[in-house]
Order: sequence, then C-alpha cells, then structure tokens
Amino acid sequence: MLVLGVESSCDETAAAVVRDGREMLSSVIHSQIGSHMAWGGVVPEIAAREHLVKIEPVVEKALEDANVSAEDLDAVAVTQGPGLIGSLLVGVCYAKAFAYGLGIPIVGVNHIEGHVFSVTLENPPVEFPALALIVSGGHTNIFYIPRLGEYELVSRTRDDAAGEAFDKAAKMLGLGYPGGPIIETLALEGDAKKIRFPTAKISDGRPDMSFSGLKTALARYMRENAILPANGDASQEIKDIAASFQRALIRGLMKSFERLAADRMPQSLIVAGGVACNLALRDAASELAEKLRVPVYFPSKHLSTDNAAMIAAAGHFYLAQGRSAGLDLAADVTLRLQNLRTDALEREAKGNYRR
Ligand code: KG4
Ligand code: ZN
Repeated sequence: MLVLGVESSCDETAAAVVRDGREMLSSVIHSQIGSHMAWGGVVPEIAAREHLVKIEPVVEKALEDANVSAEDLDAVAVTQGPGLIGSLLVGVCYAKAFAYGLGIPIVGVNHIEGHVFSVTLENPPVEFPALALIVSGGHTNIFYIPRLGEYELVSRTRDDAAGEAFDKAAKMLGLGYPGGPIIETLALEGDAKKIRFPTAKISDGRPDMSFSGLKTALARYMRENAILPANGDASQEIKDIAASFQRALIRGLMKSFERLAADRMPQSLIVAGGVACNLALRDAASELAEKLRVPVYFPSKHLSTDNAAMIAAAGHFYLAQGRSAGLDLAADVTLRLQNLRTDALEREAKGNYRR
C-alpha cells in the first residue's frame, strides 16, 4: 500500500511517500526556521501563511523523489493534531482535497503517535510493551505502549516542554533559535559540573516532569552573577552554563523515564521527537537500556524532528485495519493520544453507575 503522508502541525511543511508502512520512498521537509529566527520562536501566523505557499511544491517533490505519480497512491495520511490551528488547517484541507480528487481514502493521524511510529521505519520490529519518551519543542510525555495503537500516558511535563526549555534558555543566553542544537554544540566545550542547576521535585509524588523551575534557576544565576547574553562568540562561562543546563534538563527527563522503566519493566525503550537528536540524551537513554538489558530505539536525525514519513507510517497502521476518515475530518488542536488508564477508570465509573 502506497501512502502519502502530509505534516504541517508546527513550522515544518512536510510530505512523504511510504510503502507498506515501512519503506520510505521519499521524505521532503521544508523547514521554516529561517522565517521565525528573527522572532526567537515560531510565529503562528507566519507559519500558517508559509505552509500555504509550500504545501503544493513539497507534495509534488515528494511524489517526484519517490518516482510515483499521484494516481499510484492508495491513500493519504495527514496530521490532525495537536499543533497550531492555522498550520494544521493547511495540511488537513490540502490532504482532504487531494484525496477527494483522486478518490482515495484519507486518515487523520495524531502527531505524537507519528513520533512513536518514527522508530518503526528504520528499526527491526520493536518489542512491546515499550516505554516511549516523546520529547520535542511542543510536547514532553512518557507513554507505556502495550502494543502499537494503545497508549497509556504515564508521565507528562507540568509546564514547559523540554525542547521549549532548551529554546528559552538559548534565548536568555543570546544564542539564537532553535536552542537545542546550539546548546548541545556549546555544551561539548563546557564543564557540565560547573553549576548545579536543580531538578524539579513533583510534590504529589507522581512521575511527572517540570522544566520551568530550571529556566527560572538559569535566569537567577545570570542575574546574580551578572552574566550578559552572548553577543557573537560564546564565552567559556556561557559554554559552562550550556553544559550544566543540558545536564540538569537530561537528568530531569531521565529521572522519570528510569523510575517508570523500573516500575513497568518494558521490553524496549523508545526516545523520539526533536530533542531525541541530542546525543547526550541518547547516551543517557542507552545507559538506562543497558542497565535494564532491553533495546533502545531512536529515529535517525531526519526522522527525529517533524516529518511526514512518520505520519504515513502511523496512517498505514490504521488504513491496514480498514480505518479511514470522512471528508468531515477536522484539525484538532488538543487531540490526545488515547489514555488507557483514564479509559479504564471511565469504563469502571460507567459500570458502577449502571449497577
Ligand atoms: O519535533 P520537533 O521538530 O517539533 C515539535 O514537534 O516541537 O522538535 C523541535 C525541538 C526544538 O525545541 C529544538 O530546540 C529541539 O527540538 N531540538 C533539540 C536538538 N535538536 C532539536 N534539543 C536538544 N538537542 C538537540 N540536538
Ligand atoms: Zn513533533
């Protein structure tokens, strides 16, 4: 089955052609970073307008790279949410019109589920149950996945996403956008033990995460030590801050991941999303996997950040089960991944009510 994937939830306009959910024939990503850089973050209005201009050439390039014509396609998979509404609308409207024109089915995909599927494209069949850390600029969640298509949200950030924390820290330090890769590069030349930034403690004892305190700690450190944002080349002091900040942030992610892994005993670990590009995070996750004697799966760099191949892969999973959407498919900014525990509690509550 040949599926065209379309992704436009944030600031990447992407299209890909994937055969049978695993074979990536093409994957085109137009990154809008250049358009948002001057603002230090994604501007939703600019993002939506640029998607509108780029969606058609990006899809055409994906078909050309895959050496297929639109008539060869069996279905279209599109990111339905979560994301920015203006951005999502462009992809959803385009994909619906495209599928309607060809008379082929369309399926809506949860963007976060797409990140989970990003590891299935390049790795041997992933062992389940898996524990997945999905960590990007917009989301930071840990899911327990008994099998593909079933997700229990077992940990989430209470405030900022980890990528967002990287981005905000880089902005404070005068380093530009996006912050993650810049901080990672500077951290290589910095002393990670120089400053002891705190790791958040969640007062109700849940294995949740929090990164806004870390951001405040950085602001306080800069104020108390009269550190000015970098202006051009970063000083050794800034490199030490970058390394220490990255260390604390990864410690915060791994604290929850490790605790849940010990609790749930998964057969594999998954780390995906834009922040999964970070090699220090990969090292920490690999160390944990070694300790647990289970494999850990990461997407390649191309599939870590937002892309449409992962959307096509996830879409194929549902299409193969005969599931597709109607033309009333609507973008959904707050789309959630099914929460098994909540569902179970709701079922229980309904059962009690009937009795
Ligand atoms: O998955 P993604 O492309 O978009 C969202 O869905 O948010 O992730 C983008 C995020 C940005 O916050 C960026 O700073 C972060 O991923 N990121 C990194 C690295 N590369 C990208 N964070 C840490 N280290 C990296 N090497
Ligand atoms: Zn993403």
